[in-house]
Amino acid sequence: MKNQNQHIENHYHREGLYEEILQKLTEQHLDLNAITRANLAGVDEFHVRGAAVSKELAKSINLNNQIVLDVGCGLGGPCRMLADLYNCSTTGIDLSKEYIRTATLLSKLVGLDNKTTFTQGDATELPYKDNSFSVVWTQHVQMNIPNKEKLYSEINRVLKPGGHFLFYDIFKKGTELITYPMPWANEATHSFLFPVDEMQNTTTKLGLTKVQHTNQTQDGIAFFKTLLPKIKEFGAPKISLELLMGTTTISKHTNLLQHLQDNKLELISGVYKKQEDTLY
Ligand SMILES: C[S@@+](CC[C@H](N)C(=O)[O-])C[C@H]1O[C@@H](n2cnc3c(N)ncnc32)[C@H](O)[C@@H]1O
Repeated sequence: MKNQNQHIENHYHREGLYEEILQKLTEQHLDLNAITRANLAGVDEFHVRGAAVSKELAKSINLNNQIVLDVGCGLGGPCRMLADLYNCSTTGIDLSKEYIRTATLLSKLVGLDNKTTFTQGDATELPYKDNSFSVVWTQHVQMNIPNKEKLYSEINRVLKPGGHFLFYDIFKKGTELITYPMPWANEATHSFLFPVDEMQNTTTKLGLTKVQHTNQTQDGIAFFKTLLPKIKEFGAPKISLELLMGTTTISKHTNLLQHLQDNKLELISGVYKKQEDTLY
């Protein structure tokens, strides 16, 4: 597991990421003393459809003033959105030290450091007490984690009774082989895709109740069909996921689009609820 985690951390690592983002903001002639969340939106949400899909997911429950954990938080964009728009107190945890450093500095840059906290750590060994959070949120992380039972049991453990688990993820359909590189892995040995039904079985066994699932695949396909021709013709914008995926951005996006189209992968978001405490 240690080797696997090290591999994942290396996969995402970009040395000096925060400084590179500042450089790109400066090249856009933006005042570094007046940076807003919107200025960062192209890079700080590392999932299909970025900020738009996070805002939709946030509308699926009442998030006002909630205590939220984002598992595999990346650069912390969703944590900042929830802190800013819903006055949530948010904690993000991620394997990548460099992402956590960058997330912390970006929150400071946009003045949201009082409502966001970022910690380096493993989603399968969450360093929090039982029942700590009223909402647990995760987007595009489980594909990097082989031990699904441990992941979802940790999520369930830290969630308060009556709290909600919100997810937006990529799932496998069928058994056919996937072409790599993908945004989360350069090769199959470091990718742990599984079907959404297995996720539902695992979470249900843990005592989480499904509230809803939404298939986001067609919206994801439409997103890539708009984005990819633009990147191919004009190059990626200065503030974009190319800062995280580098020279393989187009092939990763192309492979993902292909498999969403040919039904080998699907994008699903959803909500689960943890049982309320019962009085005996
Ligand atoms: C595709 S990015 C998504 C980041 C973020 N959730 C977002 O949507 O912007 C996947 C993230 O999962 C993190 N990750 C992968 N395995 C993890 C683990 N075992 N524990 C914590 N974070 C993990 C990676 O470091 C990376 O930041």
